[in-house]
Amino acid sequence: MPEPANPEAITPGPREIEALARRIDRPVVLVGMMGVGKTSVGKRLAAVLHYGFVDADEAIEEAAHMTIPEMFERFGEAYFRDGERRVIARLLDERRDGVGSVVATGGGAFVDAATRSLILERGIAVWLDSDVETLLDRVGRNSSRPLLREGDPREVILRLKSEREALYREAPIHIQSRPGPHQRTVAAILRELEQWR
Ligand code: S3P
Repeated sequence: MPEPANPEAITPGPREIEALARRIDRPVVLVGMMGVGKTSVGKRLAAVLHYGFVDADEAIEEAAHMTIPEMFERFGEAYFRDGERRVIARLLDERRDGVGSVVATGGGAFVDAATRSLILERGIAVWLDSDVETLLDRVGRNSSRPLLREGDPREVILRLKSEREALYREAPIHIQSRPGPHQRTVAAILRELEQWR
């Protein structure tokens, strides 16, 4: 057989995906910096596996009846982190009718020691990683992140990335998300999940 032009494009076939979806017995939890594409990739990954998808930031806003910027502004980051921990604990316990789930977390969730332990114990953590230029390009289109309002976005992203990297590294799966179709990142995650035992 000839070599595929782009080995990254190889996706497990439908049968392998079905078997994988049945074998995974805990939520797949996407962690990593803001702008890396956790929500977009998470939705696609969930669709391929026929799993439910939950965006933890959205679930926090729903539970608090407030947007994240409002929460930061009125009560501060520590308050938001408490809510985030509780909501993520709940999401990790939910398994509706035996259907699996993919959970996209906010960029700071895995940085909180207690939330990180919960995710490592009850989920499969997948660290989505990108270079700073890609992150900046992606967050540039959406300024709803309170931490980015604290200074020059490039400096904030650089600082947070270097502060957080050692913690993200604790995730058992590490995926490099490059510019281009998210489907490629999804395929890379599926290949890593196939190795997960
Ligand atoms: C944050 C990232 C945001 C959101 C909040 C804090 C962070 O989520 O949870 O603004 O600390 O990096 P995204 O990673 O989805 O942007």
